[in-house]
Amino acid sequence: MAELVGLENVSKAYGPTAQMLAVDGVTLTLHRQEVAALIGDSGSGKSTLLNMIGLLDRPTGGEVRLEGRATQDMTKVRRAQLRNSFVGFVFQYHYLLPEFSVLENVLMPARIGARPQDSARRRALELLALLNLESLADKNADQLSGGEKQRAAIGRALINEPPLVLADEPTGNLDSANSDDVYRLFRSINEQMGMTFLVVTHNRAVSAQMDRVLEIADGRLIRDDLAA
Ligand SMILES: Nc1ncnc2c1ncn2[C@@H]1O[C@H](COP(=O)(O)OP(=O)(O)OP(=O)(O)O)[C@@H](O)[C@H]1O
Ligand SMILES: [Mg+2]
Repeated sequence: MAELVGLENVSKAYGPTAQMLAVDGVTLTLHRQEVAALIGDSGSGKSTLLNMIGLLDRPTGGEVRLEGRATQDMTKVRRAQLRNSFVGFVFQYHYLLPEFSVLENVLMPARIGARPQDSARRRALELLALLNLESLADKNADQLSGGEKQRAAIGRALINEPPLVLADEPTGNLDSANSDDVYRLFRSINEQMGMTFLVVTHNRAVSAQMDRVLEIADGRLIRDDLAA
């Protein structure tokens, strides 16, 4: 399978003398169209790793490659552009803008990326249909239920058709029916659009259903189902 993301010995040090390694020498490849789970105890480094892959944060050592391009020497502006086009984020909290409609929230990354408005709007409406939010397009985001908000946040993550979706405990605030919905949607989006997913979850029943399970402990990769 073709590489989408390549990590070479990636580390993140914190502390006044950089003595604390939140991520400690992780080397791994994420392939195109793969759905991978990232599991590990609280504080093991999952969010730190995700944020470095998604260019929200810079490693203190090693290299993050996106589609074969090294990212560490890119300017801040270039990294922001690449993040906008390459990565869709879904967080535990939806971060929708409450005073905007569902449709406007979904369209926000397309506006930021200065994409043609007609086609973005068309795609947003298609996504809302896929996410079963069609009838709520013009409602304000703060009028949705928790599950609906999280589905709208997924639409916003997908609007720029990024090859990579990073989800950090995306169902942490949802009940089990709404959680099941989210994972079903990830799978069907993966099948229909071919995006790669890396999903942080604490739920082993969920991770077991993914193509690949990565486990991290004390910043180190200790398990990789795909590794030979
Ligand atoms: N900005 C920061 N400054 C200092 N230490 C940090 C910072 N961010 C994270 N850490 C530390 O790095 C380690 C990894 O944190 P991280 O948030 O990646 O864990 P996690 O696996 O996502 O945990 P959780 O499951 O609780 O979300 C923790 O020990 C944390 O305290
Ligand atoms: Mg975390």
